[in-house]
Order: sequence, then structure tokens, then C-alpha cells
Amino acid sequence: MTDFTELLIADRGQTARAIHLVDKDGFAGWVKKRPAEDRALLEANRFDGKTGFEFVLLPRGDQFEVVSAVKDSTTLSPWCLAKLSERLPDGTYRLAEGQPGPAALGWLLAQHRFEDYRSKKDEPERGARVLITVEAARIEETVRLAQATALVRDLVNTPAADLGPAQLEDAVREVAKTAGARLRVTRDGELAEGYPLIAAVGGAATDERAPRLIEFEWGKPADPRVAIVGKGVCFDSGGLDLKPAAGMRLMKKDMGGAAHALALASLIIGSRLPVHLHLLIPAVENAVSGNAYRPGDIVKSRKGTFVEIDNTDAEGRLILADALTRAVEGKPELIVDFATLTGAARVALGPDLPAFFANTDGLAAAVEQAARATQDAVWRMPLWEAYDEMLKSDIADFANASNSPMAGCITAGLFLKKFVPDDVEWAHLDTYAWRDAAKPGRPKGGEALGLRAVFATLSDRYSKD
Ligand code: BES
Ligand code: ZN
Ligand code: ZN
Repeated sequence: MTDFTELLIADRGQTARAIHLVDKDGFAGWVKKRPAEDRALLEANRFDGKTGFEFVLLPRGDQFEVVSAVKDSTTLSPWCLAKLSERLPDGTYRLAEGQPGPAALGWLLAQHRFEDYRSKKDEPERGARVLITVEAARIEETVRLAQATALVRDLVNTPAADLGPAQLEDAVREVAKTAGARLRVTRDGELAEGYPLIAAVGGAATDERAPRLIEFEWGKPADPRVAIVGKGVCFDSGGLDLKPAAGMRLMKKDMGGAAHALALASLIIGSRLPVHLHLLIPAVENAVSGNAYRPGDIVKSRKGTFVEIDNTDAEGRLILADALTRAVEGKPELIVDFATLTGAARVALGPDLPAFFANTDGLAAAVEQAARATQDAVWRMPLWEAYDEMLKSDIADFANASNSPMAGCITAGLFLKKFVPDDVEWAHLDTYAWRDAAKPGRPKGGEALGLRAVFATLSDRYSKD
């Protein structure tokens, strides 16, 4: 992975090219104070501070300064330096006025590429664009956020053939190892016995891609216990209720929830947040074979309730149900799960806004506040109990899907809610984990959405300082 630590460094008076960030309100005042050569060049470039992400180089002997338009130079967005980071020549830079703050993240991520599958690189090998900051105390956290985001992107981008349940287990083991935590992996007979829903969904996969529950714990048992759960469907064909081609095309990303959960765990560990963390990743491939679970099958969940399979494509909630049950057994005070759970969440909110659900208004308010503070938007949806009847089954306790096309992300949330007692605070994020169109610092492909918001929620809640 990109070495982000080289790209953001503390200011020790190094020589660096200056970057001026101006917005449309401040531009007229700013430009008046510039030398006549600058003014002439800016005018020739028709640079007026309004042009979004455009920038101009101002010559200084054999060097140059940079001026770039941003939406609001007093509240920088995480992405307002991303285009500069991508396009500027290699070298060292510092902001001429103010500090990068949240924009340092975009500076870092703009230099991350997923090129494992290119025999020829897109661009010739280049050196680094280094940003200097006086906010030395923020460097480590910014680097960790960049690493966590890149981890989500890379895991999601990796094709399903190369990222099955076993490779997802390897990725979790890697984080556990740096944390000094021991991995627990439940498979085969023990999985069938203890986690019948995970075993049922993963039952059609080949032996090398066998289903499993991957877990580790980290932190002091005396600290508040927090469980993080992520949907790890390494490929979602839909099972026997097979998805149509267009719907299946992106389903390598159906482990995006697991990638978010793992990245969140790495942030918690990296910042040594005083919590007792329990990470749970149910990892399966939703495949098709003679062993596949079927519509109409009834599976007894770990919790003991009987679930009728209405549709084998509603598999994520099934594996999460058994993982949530396991999480609850540890008596956490808070559970957060991430999942690429429903197409309905995307119909409702589009690609960029994860739907989030919370079983207390206090937790919901905390997540909304953190989402604003980190500029990582999420949108609360209701756990509208009256829709629970959409999950009724003729012969079992309930079904895994409703036959109504309406409120799909709510009924999915209500299904999960059956496995979380009311006295345990719980948030559920139904995220796309994908970006369909590239933006500066954010290539098309796997994406972390809701990760910074949830990490900030936990930091605010548990940080000692
Ligand atoms: N992984 C999909 C959800 C999904 C689809 C997320 C497209 C993002 C983009 C999930 O397993 C699924 O197939 N859900 C079904 C549920 C339905 C069968 C009740 C859906 O949303 O259509
Ligand atoms: Zn599915
Ligand atoms: Zn799925």
C-alpha cells in the first residue's frame, strides 16, 4: 500500500512551494495584494476564484507558487486539495495561509492507486507530492484514516476470485497480528452447529471458499465493550434466486461491510481507543450448487428462532443475524454493523449516502453530529415497527424477505433488529461501498462511506481527552 507517512510531514521550516487557497468571496481582496505579474497571469488564465477545483502556477524564478480555487477557504473539505495532490509536480508544498485540517486526507488519498492488476502502470512511476503542516498532532490520525480508507478500497476492488472467505480471513489476521490479538475462526461442523444461518448461506461454495465466522477481541476487558460486525459476502450471485447480469456485475463488493468493519477496527486499535473491541466478520460466498440453500427452506438461527428463506438473495441479513447473536452474547454496550445490505437503500438515498439505523435517538444524534463534523454524510432511516408484518411467514417465526417491493432497507433493518435486544445500543449502516464515477482523490471503485462518521462517533464517546 502507498506509504502515506511520507506524504504529510511536520513543518520544521523546510523550503516548500506555497499553495494559496482562495474562494470566490475572498478572491478580489486577495488578488489586489499580489504583484502585477501574478495579476496579469491570473487574468490571462481567466482565474477568478470561482472555478471549482482549477488551479494556476505562478512563476517564482526557477520555482513556482500555486493558487487554487476552493468552495470555502475557511472550512476546507477533505477533498479540496486532492486534485492538486494528483496533478502538481513532485515536490514539497505548504499552504500559504492557514492549515490543511481535513483536506490533508484528500491530499494523501489522491496519491493512492489500485494497480495490482495492471501490467503497465497508468502513469510513469512518479515521486511524492509532500504536504507540510504545523498541525503535527493531527498527522498520525490523518495517516491512519488514509490507510483505513485505502484498505476498504483495495479489499473491495480485489476480484472475488482472489478474495474469498479465506483471503478475507487473511486480511483480518493481518490487523489482528499488528494489534497483538488472537484470531478465532469458526468453520465446518462447528459452524453448522453454532451458526446455522452462516453455514446455510455459505453452503454452496467450494471447500477452499468455505463459510466461516472470523472474530477477534482487542483491548482491556474492563473498558466498555463494543462489537463491530461486517457483512462479508465475498461474492453475491443471489444464490438460487439468481441475480440478473446487471445486478451481479458489482457483487465482488458485497464484502464491503466487512472491509468497513475491519478498517474501523484498525482505526480503533491505531488510536488506542479505550474500548474492549469485538470484531465479527461472517464470511461466505453466496454461490449456486446442489448444496445451495433454497427458497422455502427453514433454518433455525443461533438465537433459536426459525427463519423461512423467502429469497436466497437476502443473504446478508442471515449471516449478520447469527453474528449479531454472537456479539450480543459478549454483552457489549454498543454494536455497530456495516453491510452492503439492500438495493433499496440505494434507490432511496443514491450511491453516496449510507442509510443508517439506530435503536436509540441518542446514538442517532451522535452519529449525525459526527457525520457533519467529518464531512462523511449518512442519513437516518426509521426502524418502522409496523412494517415488521412484511416479514411474516406462514409456517416459521418470520421470513428473511418481504414480497413487497417497498421499504426494502427498512425491512432489512427490522430483520436485524430481531437479533439485538433493546437494552444494547445498536447502529446499522447500509452502505454502497462503491463509487460509480471518479472524483478528485476518489477513483471509481471500492469506497469507504460512513467509516469516518462512525469512527468519530466512537472517538467522541470513548476518548479520554
Ligand atoms: N448485496 C445485495 C444488496 C445490494 C445490491 C447492495 C446492489 C448494493 C447494490 C443484497 O444481498 C441483496 O441482494 N438484497 C436484495 C434483497 C431482496 C432479495 C429482499 C435487494 O436489495 O434486492
Ligand atoms: Zn443478495
Ligand atoms: Zn448481498
